[in-house]
Amino acid sequence: MKMQTIRLHTKSPSTVLCGAGALDAAAEYLKGKDALIVTDTNVDRLYAPLIAEKFPAAQVFAVPAGERNKNKKTLFLILDEMLRSHLHRSSFVVALGGGVVGDMAGLAAALYMRGTRLVQIPTTLLAQVDSSVGGKTAIDYNGVKNVIGAFYQPERVFCDPLFLKTLPRREIKCGLGEIIKTGLLDAAIGDKIAQNRGRMHDLGFLQELAADCIRFKAHVVEQDETESSGLRKCLNMGHTTGHALELLCGRRSHGEYVLIGMWLESYIAEEEEICSREYAEQVRSLISVAEPKIPSFPNAREGVKYALLDKKNEGKSNVSLILPKARGEYAELILPAEKYEKYLERL
Ligand code: NAD
Ligand code: GLY
Repeated sequence: MKMQTIRLHTKSPSTVLCGAGALDAAAEYLKGKDALIVTDTNVDRLYAPLIAEKFPAAQVFAVPAGERNKNKKTLFLILDEMLRSHLHRSSFVVALGGGVVGDMAGLAAALYMRGTRLVQIPTTLLAQVDSSVGGKTAIDYNGVKNVIGAFYQPERVFCDPLFLKTLPRREIKCGLGEIIKTGLLDAAIGDKIAQNRGRMHDLGFLQELAADCIRFKAHVVEQDETESSGLRKCLNMGHTTGHALELLCGRRSHGEYVLIGMWLESYIAEEEEICSREYAEQVRSLISVAEPKIPSFPNAREGVKYALLDKKNEGKSNVSLILPKARGEYAELILPAEKYEKYLERL
C-alpha cells in the first residue's frame, strides 16, 4: 500500500503518515532537531539498533513497559528526563511505542513548559489505528483509568507497518478490538471486515484497515476534538464495560477488554431495543473474529462502581453506554446504576 497522508484540521493541526516508509519520513522530519525519544523496555530491546540508525542524534529514554506503569511515577520519570536533557519548548518529544507510551509521553509533552512539540511513532496495531491519533493523553491514577490527562495533538504521527512484524498475536488481537469498534461505527469498514474474516492476521490487509480507521477517527476528532459536542463519545463504544473490567481484573490488555465490553454491551442493546436481535448477533459474530472466548462479568457491584467513574457520564448515579444500533449506527444509552448492575449480574 502506498503511503497515505491523513490531515486532521484540529485547533492545532496534526498530520498522520501511514504506510511503509513512515519511519524514514520520521527520521527526515526530525533530522537536526533536538529530540527525546520515549519508548518502553520491550520496544527498546527489539528496536534499539534501528532507532540508533534512524535517529543518531536523539536521546532515548526507555520506561518500564505495561499498563501497570501508566502512572504518576513513570510520568514524572519522563518529565525528570526532559528536564535533565534540557529540553526546551521547541524540542520534540517522540513517543515511540504502544498506547501506554503514547499516552504518557503525550501527557508529559503537554505539561512540560506548558507544551513541547510532540511526534507519535506508534509501534502496536492498537496505537496505529487509534491511540496515537486524535490527541488524547493520560495516565491512570488511584485505580481510575485515564483520569489525569490532556487533549494535546501530536504535530505528526508516523505509522510504519514494519513494527507490526514483531507484535505477539495477542497484541494484534488488541488492535483488532479498536478496528472492529470502528467497523461498528462505519458501515464500509464493517463490511470490509465481515467480508475478509480470514485476513485479520494478514499484515498487508491490516495496514489497509489501519488507514481506513485513522481516516474515520480523524473525521470524528475534527468535529469534536475535546469530546464536548458528544460526537467523539462514539469512539468509546464498548469502553464503559471494558474499562470497568480492565480496572476490576487487569489481567488482559485494553484492546481485549474493549472486545469483551462490546460483546457484553451488545446484549444490553438488544434487551433495551436499541438494536434488533439479528443485528446484535451480527455484532457478536464480528467480535468473534478476534475474540471467540468471552468471560462472564466477575463482580457486578464492583463493576458498577468503576463504570460510574467513566468520563462519559453526567451525574453520579447513571452510566453512559455507547451501543450498536444498526449497520454503521450507534446510540448513547444512559442507564441508572441499579439497572446496569442487574444487566452485569445476568451477563
Ligand atoms: P502497550 O503500549 O502496553 O503495548 C502492548 C505491549 O506490546 C507492551 O508490552 C509493549 O512493550 C509491546 N510492544 C509495543 N510495540 C511492540 C512491537 N512493535 N513489537 C513487540 N512488542 C511491542 O498497549 P497498547 O495496546 O498499544 O495500548 C493500550 C493503551 O492505549 C491503554 O493504556 C489505553 O488506555 C490506551 N489508549 C489510548 C487511546 C487514546 O485515544 N489516547 C485510545 C485507545 C487506547
Ligand atoms: N479512543 C477514544 C478517543 O480517542 O476518543
